[in-house]
Amino acid sequence: MQANQATFASRVLAWYDVAGRKTLPWQQQKTPYRVWVSEIMLQQTQVATVIPYYERFMARFPDVITLADAPVDDVLHHWTGLGYYARARNLHKAAQQIRDQHQGVFPEHIDEVMALPGIGRSTAGAILSFSLGQPHAILDGNVKRVLTRWLAMPGWPGQKPVENQLWEVAIRLTPRQGVQQFNQAMMDIGATLCTRSKPACQRCPLAEDCQGLLEGAPQRYPEGKPKKAATPVKNGLFLLLRHANRVLLQKRPPQGIWGGLYCFPQFDNEAMLHAWLREAGMDPAQLQELAGFRHTFSHFHLDIRPFLLTRSTVLDGGVIMEADSTLWYNLAQPDEVGLAAATQRLLAYPELAP
Ligand code: ADE
Repeated sequence: MQANQATFASRVLAWYDVAGRKTLPWQQQKTPYRVWVSEIMLQQTQVATVIPYYERFMARFPDVITLADAPVDDVLHHWTGLGYYARARNLHKAAQQIRDQHQGVFPEHIDEVMALPGIGRSTAGAILSFSLGQPHAILDGNVKRVLTRWLAMPGWPGQKPVENQLWEVAIRLTPRQGVQQFNQAMMDIGATLCTRSKPACQRCPLAEDCQGLLEGAPQRYPEGKPKKAATPVKNGLFLLLRHANRVLLQKRPPQGIWGGLYCFPQFDNEAMLHAWLREAGMDPAQLQELAGFRHTFSHFHLDIRPFLLTRSTVLDGGVIMEADSTLWYNLAQPDEVGLAAATQRLLAYPELAP
């Protein structure tokens, strides 16, 4: 069965009459100020937790001017335990803007409401629909869950195009009559029936044409954030070949990571390191592995494993002298050359102290 948009609002409103929440403290003596404070408190916090905080807050700050004139510490004190304290700071800041820029009267146009700190589009819609009956849609986390399931809508709602599509749907479904009850019901359905993991579909007024349920697994929606592919890890074996106060560095070719910088000779694995040493007339058995570390580039991790080999005799000939890009770097009197960060870190190892 296809999703029936024509009857959506009437089913939600009929459900609200029977099962919706009607006695919450912010549903009494509704003013934009009282609803605003409740919506901010409810943003990351459950209704049951909010209620006592809300009562105390309203007793201390009964109107927007009292809130604006209060010290911010007093506001924060009344928030202690609710968490996400930026909410309280923004509430205070917004109250001062209302006092100073709106003659102390909570603005009634949605653009002005959205311009206040801490109030997004959905919260602005909730404030103006609940307190003044203005026909604005809302789209908080609860409503997103209900709508993505009802439509089996693919995509992660954190992505702008998905969110925009959800707003279009929410606007289309929101009735002009009974918007307060409709919006409250959507929040309530999301919070009490259409829960994240075990939705109570048998009690839901949207079950008969819920595409997520018809597919068999409404919990699949909303889809999660796409996982980034794991960052690849490469190994880099570095030869710290030392003679007296000098270590061997090689200049990197201009392309690639560390292009043009001086680095210790690098190998992909031990076999290649050993072969290189033998060709240069050295004994791999003399290698001493030092503590390694991970160096992270934008698109991969390099697990660096340093191997120290200390020569007592002067080196000549062989692979080491072939390239003119080698440098016997003086540890006691460092040359002024470009060094990769990982090379600098290795040069600072105590095992290389001059
Ligand atoms: N969460 C956010 N606003 C709410 C409201 N008005 N009622 C219940 N839960 C909510």
